[in-house]
Amino acid sequence: MMIELREAWYEAVHKRKSRRSFTSELTEKEVQQMQEFCSTVNSAAEGIRIVLVDNSDISVFTGALGPIGKIQGTRSFAAFIGNTDSAHMYEKAGYAGEAFILEAADAGIDTCWVAGLFSMEKVKDLVKLEQGEVICAVTPLGHAKASYGLGERLLCRMLGSRKRKDLESMCRGLSMERRPDWLQCSLEAARLAPSAMNRQPWMFHATDDAVMISVAGEGEIKHLEGKRLDCGIAMLHLELGARHKKAEGNWKFLELPEVAIFEKL
Ligand SMILES: Cc1cc2nc3c(=O)[nH]c(=O)nc-3n(C[C@H](O)[C@H](O)[C@H](O)COP(=O)(O)O)c2cc1C
Repeated sequence: MMIELREAWYEAVHKRKSRRSFTSELTEKEVQQMQEFCSTVNSAAEGIRIVLVDNSDISVFTGALGPIGKIQGTRSFAAFIGNTDSAHMYEKAGYAGEAFILEAADAGIDTCWVAGLFSMEKVKDLVKLEQGEVICAVTPLGHAKASYGLGERLLCRMLGSRKRKDLESMCRGLSMERRPDWLQCSLEAARLAPSAMNRQPWMFHATDDAVMISVAGEGEIKHLEGKRLDCGIAMLHLELGARHKKAEGNWKFLELPEVAIFEKL
């Protein structure tokens, strides 16, 4: 999807975790690296852009239950912005946003996708939106301690953040024994994708040379925009898994509740 994927992101898929309590800010070098990454994505991608706000005086994050879930300890964040004129904007924002998150993880920077617990008004003040643009999500950027504090631990337990659904319950089509390596690897990488509330709202359909992703979960229509963002994230993971096994391919967008199909070349 126009963004050049890096093998290091496949490794980052396995080590990334959402972090919400930060102990130090980005270094100048890290800000520069991530700014450069934003420029690369923004010139390659269509319908979305990423803006990094460094050292903001205004805190844009709000808490769910007081300190539980509140993002704290950093003043830097990135906003994932979509343009409503662009078809499949949410999927594109999920895909490009996750590229940013994995680039950060590879550089040793901690992040957390945040689609709910932030002040839209404050972010809008800091990020100048153009006509037709909306903020799909944001992420804090910084460094967290290796060990989790009480608030982070409680939230992760409430969300079941360490758990993922069983792959076979989310996959139709070719059974596990009949899947080629690239396909199995791509499905396993997609299974690790982060999603809002860890709801994992996707279903995969695997054939010999393609894998399709659809929106799934309780009342497909409910929270559809958010689920499409989640599916965009899983799309990047699917593609990284396929490429890790040297399978190149292309994405084709589909009509909802189907989202897109990755066709191996
Ligand atoms: C699109 C999206 C939106 C999210 N929104 C929030 C949020 O508003 N607040 C929050 O604390 N975590 C949020 N998360 C983080 C998820 O809770 C987290 O990814 C999930 O529990 C899995 O945990 P992990 O990222 O550590 O693997 C969001 C994640 C995604 C992908």
